[in-house]
Order: sequence, then C-alpha cells, then structure tokens
Amino acid sequence: MDDVCVITGGGSGLGRATARAMGERGYQIVLTGRTPAKLETVVTELRATGVDAEALAGDVADRESMRQLARTAAKRGQVTAVIHAAGMSPHMGDPGVIMATNALGTVNVNDAFYEVMDARGCVIDTSSMSAYLTPKIVMPTHVYPLSRTDRSRFMRGMMRRVHLFPRTVRTGVAYGISKHFVIWFARTDAARFGARGVRVVSVTPGSFDTPMGDLESEESMTYVRNSAIKRLGRPEEIAHLYAAAADERMGYLTGTDILCDGGCVAGGASPFRRRGGTG
Ligand SMILES: NC(=O)c1ccc[n+]([C@@H]2O[C@H](COP(=O)([O-])OP(=O)(O)OC[C@H]3O[C@@H](n4cnc5c(N)ncnc54)[C@H](OP(=O)(O)O)[C@@H]3O)[C@@H](O)[C@H]2O)c1
Repeated sequence: MDDVCVITGGGSGLGRATARAMGERGYQIVLTGRTPAKLETVVTELRATGVDAEALAGDVADRESMRQLARTAAKRGQVTAVIHAAGMSPHMGDPGVIMATNALGTVNVNDAFYEVMDARGCVIDTSSMSAYLTPKIVMPTHVYPLSRTDRSRFMRGMMRRVHLFPRTVRTGVAYGISKHFVIWFARTDAARFGARGVRVVSVTPGSFDTPMGDLESEESMTYVRNSAIKRLGRPEEIAHLYAAAADERMGYLTGTDILCDGGCVAGGASPFRRRGGTG
C-alpha cells in the first residue's frame, strides 16, 4: 500500500494514538508538530511495529511550513488521509496564538493538502466540545468567510470579538471561537474538495486523557459528571473514529461534524457551571 496518512499534532495525545491506528491499517505515516523530539519518539514507536513512518517538524500556523509538509508527503505516495489534530487549548498560549494555531492553522492545512490529495482521500479537521458549549452569540460567524479572501482581516475580526471579553476569559473565548470556526470551515470546504473527489469532515472530541486533557483536568472532571460515560475518553477510542471516517468505504461522509464526547453535550453540559472560561 502506498497510501500516505499525514497527522498534524502527531507527537502526542490524539494524534499519536491515531498514528498507531492508521499505521495498523497499512498507511505510511507522516507526522508533524513543532517539537522534533516528540515526533521522533512516535516515529521510533511506529517503526518498531513495522510501520513506515517519517517526521517533519512544522508549525500549522505557518502557511509555507504546511505547503512543505504537503510536498514531502506527496513524494512518498498517494496522500489519502490528512488527520489535522494539532491544536492549542486555553492553557497553552495567549489568545492570539491560540487563534492563529487553531483557526488559521486549519485553513493552512486544508489549503496545502488541497493541492496534493488523491481523489479517494479525506481531510479530517479537529474541533472541540467548546464549539458546542460556547453560546452562539459569542461566535463572529460573519467574519469566517474572510478566511478564504483576506487572512489579515479575518484574524483582526476574530480577535476583535475576543477582545470584547474580560482579559481573564480571553484564552477560553479564543479557543471556543477558533474551534467553532473549524467546524464551519470543514463543513464549507467539503464542496471545494468534493469537486476533486475528496471528503472533508471535522471530528469534535469531548474530554480525553491526553497531555492537553491533563491541563484541563478540573474542567474535564466537571464535564465527566454530565456525560453518559462517567470517565475521560481514551485516545485510542477516538483514533479508531478518525480511521473509520478516513476509510474510503465511508465515501458519502463529508461536510459534517462528528461529536465524540461520551454523551457530554447530550447530558446538558454548560461552561457556566465551571470556572475559567469556555475551553
Ligand atoms: N484532549 C482533549 O480533551 C481535547 C478536547 C477537545 C479538543 N481537543 C483537540 O484535539 C486535538 C488534539 O489534542 P490532544 O489532546 O491530543 O493535545 P496534545 O497532546 O497537546 O496534542 C496536540 C499536539 O499539537 C501540536 N501542536 C500544537 N500547536 C502546534 C502548531 N502550531 N503546529 C504544529 N503542531 C502543533 C503539539 O505539539 P508541539 O507542541 O510539539 O507542536 C501536540 O503534539 C487538539 O486540536 C485539541 O484542541 C482535545
């Protein structure tokens, strides 16, 4: 099989578990993230199980870096799966960096791979439950289309909305808005990719046991109480969802979001029942 699967954020958490799941299915794996040491650990792990894997350090917020990643992946074979799992949570940076990584990063990944994807392929972007839980009135949806025409105005518009909120909750607001944008972008990008026979979906994790999840542990435990399944998700439980959605036998699945949250949103979770923003 010379199908190539690219995984952003593949050095840890959900991306790492998904690399294993896609490797088991016979894909060659190309991982990216900003920290080479983390990526190399995963590459070594994958190779030890017979999976053909390579790492290329990169930053999803940097458009040229994602173009380079796409070129590198395309040289290895047919790129049929892009799992875009890289992201930053409210505890990981300032609001502008969170927005650039999560929102602009998704635009950069989709645009870069639009050029190289094989017709049987699937792009999967990653949102967050906070996109469902943050009140809709917070979302600057009128700004979202600018992501395709004017990136500077897009970022200014997104950050203008974030700055309407008190400083103490801005990282959470930036996270919620950026992840709501991811769902919108994947949904509307499906038509562009569909013309080339490629599918685009988003996957929305609830509270998962990962390095990022650890930073959100207090909030996560509040959410677990609202869930149908009273524990955190295990990374491999969503890894197999990514793998199933990417499978070409799921050829009619596109332009939609898949929520995998242990029944938390259905259980009526609310960001107002906990401290520290909407992340
Ligand atoms: N875990 C949860 O409970 C949860 C809940 C909702 C949504 N999510 C979403 O699921 C995705 C995966 O999260 P996770 O829990 O697996 O977190 P994680 O373990 O922190 O993994 C995220 C990965 O993204 C990489 N990354 C961050 N910024 C990047 C950038 N600018 N360019 C390239 N790579 C970057 C990080 O590596 P470097 O720092 O080395 O770049 C890291 O390996 C994220 O998009 C997150 O928002 C997770």
